[in-house]
Amino acid sequence: MGTTMKRKVKIKKKNFTIFIFFIMLFSFCLYEIGFVVYKVITTPKKEVVEKEEKIKKVTTTKKATNYEKKLQELDNIDQKITYFKKDNIDRYLAYKKSNSKLDTIQVIKDVNMNLDLTPYEDITEAINLNKTNILVNKYYYLDKDYIPNNLEKISTRYALSGMRLVSEAKVAFEDMAKSAAKENLKIVAMSTYRSYNYQVSLYNRYKRQDGIEKADSYSGRPGHSEHQTGLAVDVYNEEENYTNFEETEEFEWMQKHAHEYGFILRFPKDKENETGYIYESWHYRYVGKNIAKYIKEHKISLEEYIATH
Ligand code: DAL
Ligand code: ZN
Repeated sequence: MGTTMKRKVKIKKKNFTIFIFFIMLFSFCLYEIGFVVYKVITTPKKEVVEKEEKIKKVTTTKKATNYEKKLQELDNIDQKITYFKKDNIDRYLAYKKSNSKLDTIQVIKDVNMNLDLTPYEDITEAINLNKTNILVNKYYYLDKDYIPNNLEKISTRYALSGMRLVSEAKVAFEDMAKSAAKENLKIVAMSTYRSYNYQVSLYNRYKRQDGIEKADSYSGRPGHSEHQTGLAVDVYNEEENYTNFEETEEFEWMQKHAHEYGFILRFPKDKENETGYIYESWHYRYVGKNIAKYIKEHKISLEEYIATH
């Protein structure tokens, strides 16, 4: 190759390198421009962002104000009591409106006891399932398959044959009846755990005999009787009919001592409105010593206890 030829090749190579360099520079610029344009299109304007944030803030404040207004209508009672339930706020307000003579604390208690609802219509599953503070009534039901754990037979010294209670309640009942026996008193369990199906036949019989309204005043509908919990017991003294238990010395003794063994009189005289049942001097419910003591001392129903704890 001559010298001229060599120079020509060299120049061509140089031009090619410059060409490639410019192509790369051009591509880079194109990419950068594209990126900037993309950013400009996709990034919301500052004013838009500020406006959106402002709207959000106003909505939240408005919400808080509505809730606060409702609290004011309830005398800001949420700060004074522990059992105020935020979820119930609209029910509290509606109940207060239709019961204007009630003070706010009573409104909260009543609604927590579901007294603003319709018995046997507004129902949910029993609360505190499998615990000694389980609540079964006209608003809380047990499934038809529900059978409590650890059912045990009570000694026939203190019960008709085949009477069963949940173990803890059975032991407490025997202790109680034994103590009464030491004072020549006879406390005998005559109806304890009842299955769902048994309650079906019992309730239907009462309904046939007395009609729905009366039957509902003294008998739980199937699934709504706390006899299905294995923690309830009807007693008598083997002399008087159980419906006359109130007139016996055994009743007097139980009035004084049942709570020491963890039992409460479940359907007291002046609490029909809360429990949903007429007074039953023979029906006791095991709740454990602490709760029984509290209920006894405060003269309240199990419903009120649960509504305030
Ligand atoms: N006698 C009570 C209310 C019951 O049937 O559960
Ligand atoms: Zn009973």
